[in-house]
Amino acid sequence: VERTLSIIKPDATRRNLTGRINAKFEEAGLRIIAQKRIQMTPAQAGTFYAVHKERPFYGELCDFMASAPVVVQVLEGESAIAKNREVMGATNPADAAAGTIRAEFAESVGENSVHGSDAPETAAVEIAYFFSGLELVG
Ligand code: GTP
Ligand code: MG
Repeated sequence: VERTLSIIKPDATRRNLTGRINAKFEEAGLRIIAQKRIQMTPAQAGTFYAVHKERPFYGELCDFMASAPVVVQVLEGESAIAKNREVMGATNPADAAAGTIRAEFAESVGENSVHGSDAPETAAVEIAYFFSGLELVG
C-alpha cells in the first residue's frame, strides 16, 4: 500500500465541503489515516509550495492557502498517489473529468479545492511536513 498527502484547500473549507470531499476519497477506496484542520501562515504555505516559487502565481497561491483553514490529511491505499489524483481531476476545473472533485467543486485553476502529492518522493516529504509518525494510524 501507498500513502499520499492531501489538502482540502481554503475555497472548500469555506464552503463547508470537507465531508463531501472525504466521501469521494472513501468511495474511491482511499482510507483517511490522519487528518487535522490547521491555519497556515503565508510563509508556511510558501515552504510547502517551494517548488513553484519561480512561477508567476506563487505569491497568489501562498496568500490563498493562508486565507482560511485547510484540512491536511494522509490517504492510504493501493496506488494511493495516482488514485487520489484521479479522484481530484485536472488542475483546471474546466478540464476536469465529470465526477471528479475539481469538476464538482473547484472555483478556478487557483482555487481548486484540493492538493495531492504527485510522486512517492514528494508524498514522503509532504507527509513529514505536517505529521509525525505517531499521528499516522493505518
Ligand atoms: P496541487 O495538487 O495543488 O499541487 O495541484 P496540481 O499538481 O494539479 O497543480 P500544480 O502542482 O501544477 O500547481 C499547484 C497549485 O498551484 C494548483 O493546484 C493551483 O492551486 C495553483 N496554480 C496552478 N496554476 C495556476 C495558475 O495559473 N494560476 C493560479 N492562480 N494558481 C495556479
Ligand atoms: Mg502539484
